[in-house]
Amino acid sequence: MPEINSLSIMPDPGLAEIETDVVIIGSGIAGLLLAHELVEGGVNVVIATKDSLLDSNTRYAQGGVAAVIAEALGDSKEAHLQDTIKSGAGLANEKVAREIIDGGGALIKRLMQLGVKFDRTENGQISMHLEGGHSQRRVLHSKDATGKTIAEQLVAVLRDCALDSGRSNKVVILENAFALDIIKSEDNQACGVLLSSGREVVAVKANAIVLATGGIGQIFERTTNPLVATGDGIALAARAGAKLVDMEFVQFHPTAFFKEGYPAFLISEAVRGQGAILVDETGHRFAFDFHKDGELATRDIVANAIHQTMTSRGIPNVFLDLRPIGISQINEKFPNILATLEAAGIDATKEPIPVCPAAHYFMGGVAADTNGRTSIEGLFAIGECASTGLHGANRLASNSLLEAGVMALNLADILVREAKTQPGYIQKSAKTYQQLIKSADCSVPNNGDKKHLQRLMYRGAGLVRDAKGLTELQSALAAITTYKTSFNRSDREAANMLLVSKLIAEACQRRRESRGSHLRSDFQASDDVHNLHRITFENGSWNAEMIEKFHLASVQKPLIVTR
Ligand code: SIN
Repeated sequence: MPEINSLSIMPDPGLAEIETDVVIIGSGIAGLLLAHELVEGGVNVVIATKDSLLDSNTRYAQGGVAAVIAEALGDSKEAHLQDTIKSGAGLANEKVAREIIDGGGALIKRLMQLGVKFDRTENGQISMHLEGGHSQRRVLHSKDATGKTIAEQLVAVLRDCALDSGRSNKVVILENAFALDIIKSEDNQACGVLLSSGREVVAVKANAIVLATGGIGQIFERTTNPLVATGDGIALAARAGAKLVDMEFVQFHPTAFFKEGYPAFLISEAVRGQGAILVDETGHRFAFDFHKDGELATRDIVANAIHQTMTSRGIPNVFLDLRPIGISQINEKFPNILATLEAAGIDATKEPIPVCPAAHYFMGGVAADTNGRTSIEGLFAIGECASTGLHGANRLASNSLLEAGVMALNLADILVREAKTQPGYIQKSAKTYQQLIKSADCSVPNNGDKKHLQRLMYRGAGLVRDAKGLTELQSALAAITTYKTSFNRSDREAANMLLVSKLIAEACQRRRESRGSHLRSDFQASDDVHNLHRITFENGSWNAEMIEKFHLASVQKPLIVTR
């Protein structure tokens, strides 16, 4: 592992130990921005990531960051709030949504101070894109590779901090370091994390343990997410006994590229915002048959419309036609999409693109407030692995980078204050090295079972679910045998994927209605009388929890869903 020597290490056969103020697991926008702000605030930080710093869901985010900034004429935070709540299909938490949306301006300002460049119009104003469910153009972007632009810039400034020998505090970057488990003290506080580098196991003890591990898309056969999105932080939190919530709400992006033998590459919603249309195999523009907003309805509605069209006509995909945008605008705004499609033999300026929904974003995860606080003291969760209630049952487009960035800034404020006033206040783990290693033991499925699991989840808990399919899925997941203990990354990912899959399947069974991204062919309507709650899981128990203020899902008519 690189750079371990810059912090105190107490060597022990097989186990090194690092002490720091804050350890962050994961390196998307949430982890990178938090790490940077902490080190600038004088705090010692270890940021650990299982691959390289640049491997994260953030890097693949195309659309952008939804935010109302001073320059956005005609828009308002209130309008952004209403759009977020409407998209959340009755379960978005208004208080949380206000806090996150209020933080948007400061986030954008900070990202620009750190060197992130958003596209501008010819007259120098920040260019705003329109995406589904938004009543205004409010998505800041950097062509069609916004996440990549942000991630690369944050990695660059963080690496500069790591190289700055003039600092009294340190940021230690650990790449290829896989988090095995959270270390807890006798009184149930999180006080560290056990990492495996393949060669050795390292205990990082810290005042605050922050999960910023991103999403879960890889547990489904078709996903827009990169290979790293295996739900590790959520599995770590579940094993530590933290509260999880909304595990049934998986967002399927309507327009992922569909071609046998090719990955489900994302075709950004921004192309529909610019005028691209959805057609079936006869050329019929079908989205308006399902909703008055057509292609720019919220993501759950458009994904369902595509699914209905495919099932009723017996076709494996529909088509996204970019030609209404015009060749020069396509070339200027979506060069990354064009180049990727060209490599797959499609010229999107001349022909429609075959698309079909794919798992894209997880609204569920570790229950957290807008500062990332979880149910376990010392343990924080930010970004996609956290579930604050902002998104409700269906996330509004481009609210994910917004939430992740705002949570990172909020948590940085708190930890900079606490680290300065309470130095070393959680150096509590009394456990011996052997006890730590033993507690991280975890039986794992065969790594070869990953593909089997992905197929099972896509079939049984995909875009449309029903009780029969979910019961079959649960039996099949239960039959995947776990056979040994292992600290190997791939084995442990498989174990995490299995655990998260089981929790998702059970939560899907429990929500006996259709709401937002959770479509049940056997319960097609939303049932506000019995289901206007969030489903939680904590220490082996499932519960239903009310949120402070609900907004009735007025958009939610009975859905026509077929499986
Ligand atoms: C997209 O560009 O369509 C994805 C952005 C998002 O997931 O919000």
